[in-house]
Amino acid sequence: MRYLSIDTGPETAKISRIGLGTWQFGSRDWGYGQSYAEQEARVIVRRALELGVTLFDTAEIYGFGRSERILGEAIGGNRESAFLATKIFPVLPVAPVVEQRAVASANRLGVRRIDLYQVHQPNPLVRDGTIMRGMRALQRVGLVGEVGVSNYSLERWRAAEAALGSPVLTNQVQYSLVARSPERDLLPFAESTGHVVIAYSPLAQGLLSGRYHRDSRPTNRVRIANPLFLPENLERADELITTLREVAEAHAATPAQIALAWVIHRPAVVAIPGASSVEQLESNVAAASIELTEDQYQALKAAAIRFNPITGPQAVPRLIRARIS
Ligand SMILES: NC(=O)c1ccc[n+]([C@@H]2O[C@H](COP(=O)([O-])OP(=O)(O)OC[C@H]3O[C@@H](n4cnc5c(N)ncnc54)[C@H](OP(=O)(O)O)[C@@H]3O)[C@@H](O)[C@H]2O)c1
Repeated sequence: MRYLSIDTGPETAKISRIGLGTWQFGSRDWGYGQSYAEQEARVIVRRALELGVTLFDTAEIYGFGRSERILGEAIGGNRESAFLATKIFPVLPVAPVVEQRAVASANRLGVRRIDLYQVHQPNPLVRDGTIMRGMRALQRVGLVGEVGVSNYSLERWRAAEAALGSPVLTNQVQYSLVARSPERDLLPFAESTGHVVIAYSPLAQGLLSGRYHRDSRPTNRVRIANPLFLPENLERADELITTLREVAEAHAATPAQIALAWVIHRPAVVAIPGASSVEQLESNVAAASIELTEDQYQALKAAAIRFNPITGPQAVPRLIRARIS
């Protein structure tokens, strides 16, 4: 495993370049079922710890608290080996509510300290002054280590940091070969200032594994609503998947591993792929050791730029049709 070393004041935290996303744990959105939630998820976490993963990402909203509970139980006595990140969904972003919600998350996780507490989405109506007041209080009493945000523009990330009065260390955003907008300003900012971008959906929810195609599409709630999995878009992704396969062959790796290696090629990025099995977790962790050459990195980027999926309003009738069929 490779790590980012982050100076967290009293000590240096080691954040694994490949972490583990746990939206899948106990969530109906992914539909992995009861035995995944009760058994497989725990085995995935324990194996991740054995392989040197430190970054574990969850949220109060995942499975309405189930993900936090499953993750906390699975980590158990290995608390010191983990860098635990969870998120508050800022429906009522005022300081006392933030404080109560952090306590509830810590209780579900079974910990005394949340290493990274993130604001899940920018609240469209309320600016971040009140939420950051709550965050400051949580840091003061030691319940929260670092503060982060998610789905924030650069402007709002900086404003949140000004409101907190100390670093808002991370911004968790969608970043993959098919979602490259963080390259515009978030990555340069993070790289030049010591901040960190946490890449979610780094495998485009499994699209970049090359496992899905027109006649074999995933059927769970999350992906049925994701335009990337429309039959037309799966077809359009063929060239990108072929390039992933070609680079994968040169590294004796899989397309999914190359997609992850591409994301963490940028120095301030860590990725948090989810996993539906222990084998996937092991494969994702191994991707941390793959070093792409500059030519491979650019060839993948060029293929990604040529991928032109149907999105936005044009995708809506197709999504309805695909759902019915
Ligand atoms: N902050 C936010 O707003 C936000 C939003 C979304 C996600 N997240 C976080 O980011 C994490 C990851 O994002 P995500 O779950 O949306 O997408 P992802 O990590 O891109 O995709 C995960 C899915 O890809 C497949 N997969 C994983 N490893 C694989 C491998 N080695 N080979 C082949 N297929 C593999 C699995 O699905 P199948 O096996 O079923 O194909 C898995 O469930 C989440 O768990 C969550 O913690 C945050």
